[in-house]
Amino acid sequence: MVCADNLDACRAYIESLLVAEPPELEKFEAQYRRMPRAQPPIGLQVSTFLTWLIAVMQARKVIELGTALGYSTLSLAAALKTTGGRLIAVESDSEMVAATAKNLQAAGLQDQVDLIHGDAEETLSKLQGSFDLILQDAGKASYPVLLPRCYQLLRPGGVFAMDDALFLPMGVRADLSDPVDLAVRKLFQEDCWKATLLPIGDGLALAWKKFSNLS
Ligand SMILES: C[S@@+](CC[C@H](N)C(=O)[O-])C[C@H]1O[C@@H](n2cnc3c(N)ncnc32)[C@H](O)[C@@H]1O
Repeated sequence: MVCADNLDACRAYIESLLVAEPPELEKFEAQYRRMPRAQPPIGLQVSTFLTWLIAVMQARKVIELGTALGYSTLSLAAALKTTGGRLIAVESDSEMVAATAKNLQAAGLQDQVDLIHGDAEETLSKLQGSFDLILQDAGKASYPVLLPRCYQLLRPGGVFAMDDALFLPMGVRADLSDPVDLAVRKLFQEDCWKATLLPIGDGLALAWKKFSNLS
């Protein structure tokens, strides 16, 4: 079993094996240094896992909440290019929307994405259809609030992925970690989800929307 003493070494080993896809993701570190207001990206471990998941599921309809500079947006869009899918990406901060749009253009992925400048809750309330995957990485206060709407928008068998799921044990301040913890507990306790939590990045909670006839 991996213990705290060798966890960093394990993470460094895993990251040494991963390849950023698209390669433009490697340019983000410099961008974050230039724009310190931008919130941190999901990172290489989580983006690689979501890329893998999109391929395994052959996901074609995906929603992302919270793009910041677009690290996760580029990663999801590149994965969806291989499945012939599309991404709806929602971000409330105009500066971040502009940066995401520029980064998508530079990577040639703009046609894969409907980039919406708006509030996640308001945007979700207007969307129709059934989606294969939803990535929640917007404001942490929205995590428990948006769960029921995300559930409605997923198809049975669809996956809800929630970043920063380990904020509470990481000791992140309460106004951020408390709503994340509440949402994590709902995913594990509510009968309609089958949940797990991966200790990659800052924690990725994953919940599968059960088919109504299965437990
Ligand atoms: C942690 S960052 C997203 C990082 C991004 N997923 C990545 O991997 O690069 C969270 C983003 O969510 C946006 N945000 C916060 N509350 C929001 C809301 N209610 N609706 C839409 N976007 C929101 C913030 O402006 C911020 O850019």
